[in-house]
Amino acid sequence: MDCAKPAGIFQFSVVDELIHQSEEEFKPVPFPFELPKFEGTVNFGAEMKAKHFYLNESWTFLNHGAFGSAIKEGLKSSEMWREYCEQQPLKFMDREVFQHLIHGLRKLARFVDADPADIVFVQNATTGINAVVRSLVKKFQPGDSILMIDVAYGTVKLVIEDATRGTGITINEIKLPIPVTSPQEIVKLIEKSLQPSTKLAVLDHIPSNLAFIMPIKKLVDVCHERGVQVLVDGAHCLGSMKISMRELGADYYAANGHKWLCSPKGTAFLYVARSHQHMIHPPVISWGFGHGFTSEFSWIASMDYTPYLSFLTVLDFWDHYGQDKMIKYMYDTSKEAGQLLCEAWQTSLVADISMCGPMAVVKLPEGVVPHSANLSPPYSDPAAHAVMNILHFQYKIEVPVRVINGELYVRISAHVYNELGEFKVLADAILAIVKNNRTTQ
Ligand SMILES: Cc1ncc(COP(=O)(O)O)c(C=O)c1O
Repeated sequence: MDCAKPAGIFQFSVVDELIHQSEEEFKPVPFPFELPKFEGTVNFGAEMKAKHFYLNESWTFLNHGAFGSAIKEGLKSSEMWREYCEQQPLKFMDREVFQHLIHGLRKLARFVDADPADIVFVQNATTGINAVVRSLVKKFQPGDSILMIDVAYGTVKLVIEDATRGTGITINEIKLPIPVTSPQEIVKLIEKSLQPSTKLAVLDHIPSNLAFIMPIKKLVDVCHERGVQVLVDGAHCLGSMKISMRELGADYYAANGHKWLCSPKGTAFLYVARSHQHMIHPPVISWGFGHGFTSEFSWIASMDYTPYLSFLTVLDFWDHYGQDKMIKYMYDTSKEAGQLLCEAWQTSLVADISMCGPMAVVKLPEGVVPHSANLSPPYSDPAAHAVMNILHFQYKIEVPVRVINGELYVRISAHVYNELGEFKVLADAILAIVKNNRTTQ
């Protein structure tokens, strides 16, 4: 490989230069050690789990959507970079880390079909969303409004509420009808909810609680026709679907690596359309400030940058097994599992099955809440927690139980390490709980 010379003491102008180089111009600095490699393949399901994940065999783990689970090689990669850093911290932090970070960013940009200069690493989707909302609110006027959907992630709502407090900017929270029957229904709802005052729409690509795939491209287009900028919360979408920043054309997009991509915790990216980059600043201001979008986000003061470098390894995992095949397995498994649970419990899904990706939300049967909890419908969180606790402690099943309109649902996740049989274990456990509740009445 034709490689650049290692950089001298780092200057922020180098970041700008390296990120704007073309594919042909960019000469990566050689890695200081050999990164973990992927050789041979195994079947999806239990074999995949044993080879690439630390997940404990004794658990039925159906909640990848919460905090993900990192692949062994990604964690190893991060650890190797960390050990390397500590051999000569100044050499690494002052002269080398930026070159490798830019290399990683460029590799990730290819994966999400973005210009490398339009994405930056952030520690999590929440940080990216904070950066966008807090920066924009400073530019908005009293009387302007921000549209969000009632199913927006809780912390996203908190960010919007906190950033707008005392500014005269209003929040227009839209209620999504449940069950969700078609993508068109959502597009119409958003279309009619946009007002002349709406400056920003904050929309999930996959909402956490309902876990179906939003018709996000249509929603972005509808908002743009009305002159409204769109911030997409894609926390669940990196790895779980093919995403193209170029095709989507959103103004802002935040997505986690530590969920479906299976990279170590503290890995995410933020996309900002080129024309808006001058307005968006990181929540933590440090030495990169004033040196341009990439520089500002590249140096968030002294911290551990090695999780970001693990993208260099984790993306090889996806190349090795093939993203299309992995996505197909996840979607097929989640759909089959959703149907299996609906049949076993004689219930239904929260969104039409055609809209499900790697997760599905299934209604629980009646009689699942233990009488000892002394709770009756309409349910709230304590009932959900009671059922989750029984599944966790008595059955070693990890799955979230959620309350939607006073009723209880489970959100199942299917990653490449899950198998249909695990969902059968969940189906049977819930039926056993219902039976037990009946007999102890
Ligand atoms: C839709 C959605 N947005 C944002 C987040 C926040 O992710 P993080 O805590 O990694 O920032 C989550 C986490 O589950 C989520 O589901």
